[in-house]
Amino acid sequence: STVGKVITCKAAVAWGPKEPLKVETITVDPPKAGEVRMKVNFTGVCHTDAYTLGGHDPEGLFPVILGHEGCGTVESVGEGVDHVKPGDVVIPLYTAQCRDCKFCRNPKTNLCQKVRATQGAGKMPDGTSRFKCGDKELFHFMGCSTFSEYTVVAGVSVCAVNPQAPQDKVCLLGCGITTGYGAVLNTAKVEEGSTVAVWGLGAVGLAVVMGAVKAKASRIIGVDINPGKFEVAKQFGCTDVVNPKDYDKPIQNVLVDMTDGGLDYTFECIGNVHTMRAALEACHKGWGESVIIGVAASGQEISTRPFQLVTGRVWRGTAFGGYKSRDSVPKLVEEYLAGDMKLDEFVTGHMPLTEINQAFEDMHAGRALRTIIDL
Ligand code: APR
Ligand code: ZN
Repeated sequence: STVGKVITCKAAVAWGPKEPLKVETITVDPPKAGEVRMKVNFTGVCHTDAYTLGGHDPEGLFPVILGHEGCGTVESVGEGVDHVKPGDVVIPLYTAQCRDCKFCRNPKTNLCQKVRATQGAGKMPDGTSRFKCGDKELFHFMGCSTFSEYTVVAGVSVCAVNPQAPQDKVCLLGCGITTGYGAVLNTAKVEEGSTVAVWGLGAVGLAVVMGAVKAKASRIIGVDINPGKFEVAKQFGCTDVVNPKDYDKPIQNVLVDMTDGGLDYTFECIGNVHTMRAALEACHKGWGESVIIGVAASGQEISTRPFQLVTGRVWRGTAFGGYKSRDSVPKLVEEYLAGDMKLDEFVTGHMPLTEINQAFEDMHAGRALRTIIDL
């Protein structure tokens, strides 16, 4: 048994910004009190990984093991961890849920702050790292670091899910899909018969479409500058698709005309401050709500005329779909297993860890929805 011992395994290490990931032999220390060591079996590759690797995150730390959309099995647990046990199928959660902090006690938010500071500093809650490559200590990432065969996560940052679940699919519930789906169902609480528009038809945008279908929206308009995204968007349930490049007026004006005054709900799933503005201004006067999901680059600012808000439009944002993570992710897994939620349709390819740089390239090129790395 490996319990209590240092594990030697493979991981894709990001040695510095803009450098390709390098598969290295690393060591993973045993979990300390309150921690969980897990074998990662599958991980998605997400924009936040690319953003940090690209050196765009001013708080990015190197060398680091990236990855935060994973699924695997518990290898061992530290003292005091009783909600997961060795062998459990688990999903790491970059939005923790301690059930004790001011945020966890407030039903209006999912932004647990328990491990926020150390997670942001690339460390475990005690301020140290469990990873080494040779003598060199490696930073953790988003409390997950799933681009490694083994990782250690805080107990508050992991949940057990139904062991019947296909791990190469439910890993996606660790980030993008949950984020888009929850934005519709938790954050906006879209009502039956509502009109919805979605900017960006990548995995996050399609998850919004899936949520809007679930909420029985009457009209779901997909907006993207890549017409290659339209076919799958219609399969997911978009009733209309619009390419802003086909018009010589602002896309918000096009949508307002298409919808007799604007939409009930809009969602921005790109991370571009200009499309955030368009999404707000495409909302119906008096009640339209726009939800920001995409993460804009550091230092960017949004703007609009205050009159847009004075006249009743609402601008809001959401992280991890507003889901309190440990309470919700196991339920989403059940929803998928019951056939009530798509996940398979988001997986556009599988690759071994050795080809992870290719997965980043495919994401940048807009070829992939989600590539799953098999560890
Ligand atoms: N107008 C309309 N569509 C755009 C524009 C634009 N100005 N710019 C980009 N797009 C489209 C792209 O063509 C692509 O289809 O937005 C889509 C974004 O999809 P992905 O790149 O696959 O991203 P996704 O994984 O869905 O994540 C979306 O959410 O995680 C956050 O900020 C992060 O950028 C990421 C966003
Ligand atoms: Zn908390």
